[in-house]
Amino acid sequence: MYAILSTSNFHNQAQALAQKLSLPLHTEKVKDATFYLYYSDDGLNLIATHLNLGPLHLDFNHGALHQRLQRAAISKEPLARAVGLHKNPNLYLCDATAGIGREGCLLASLGARVTLVERSPIMVALLQDALNRCNAVWRDRVDLIATDSCDFLATTKEPFDVIYLDPMFEAHSHKAQVKKEMQYLQALMGPQEDGDALLTAAFNSKVKRIVVKRPLKARCLLDKKPSFALTLAAYRFDVYLR
Ligand SMILES: C[S@@+](CC[C@H](N)C(=O)[O-])C[C@H]1O[C@@H](n2cnc3c(N)ncnc32)[C@H](O)[C@@H]1O
Repeated sequence: MYAILSTSNFHNQAQALAQKLSLPLHTEKVKDATFYLYYSDDGLNLIATHLNLGPLHLDFNHGALHQRLQRAAISKEPLARAVGLHKNPNLYLCDATAGIGREGCLLASLGARVTLVERSPIMVALLQDALNRCNAVWRDRVDLIATDSCDFLATTKEPFDVIYLDPMFEAHSHKAQVKKEMQYLQALMGPQEDGDALLTAAFNSKVKRIVVKRPLKARCLLDKKPSFALTLAAYRFDVYLR
């Protein structure tokens, strides 16, 4: 299903990635692979041959992701308020569902120190490549860990102030205008049911504040009422204070 596509200019990089991810290396597209990672002049890309989406390429230096971070201000970002960045601008946060790193890096750009944790090796490869190329000042405040967050939270000794959870949720899928990044995440991961397990792992840690992003009408994870919720047009942040 997944493969690395080697092009003549980037053969060594492609070969190293194929070895690292234990994926087959091809010089042209083959019938039984639907997702290809390949290098181009601007870094690593993912293409899904069965989706009419164009390649997924993460870039914090130019384009939409960069502009999103440039525009961000603590006073205007509900997520910044939900995690408490307006009260503690130096907080240490674990983004346990990193995805494309948009929200974790947004919080880092606003001053937080952020550990991103992501279990999909494909997403990790794309995100690590974008972070390696990133020239923003906040880059030094971000670490990326490739593992399952339930395991990570059970063993880490890091003194996080906040754990942030944004598990995949179904609500993304019925929207016509789901962004390309989210369509890729859904195609790669499919529906995931581990929101309750992630919240249990967060509760079992010593962290004082847990923030969960949920679709507006969805039940609370673990059916547990939060201390308060910040409600936006399409989703809400459930905030648990302990
Ligand atoms: C909706 S996306 C998160 C998007 C992210 N907030 C952003 O701004 O890019 C959910 C991500 O969490 C990851 N994920 C889900 N469960 C996980 C777990 N138990 N450990 C680590 N990552 C997990 C999925 O692989 C997916 O990439």
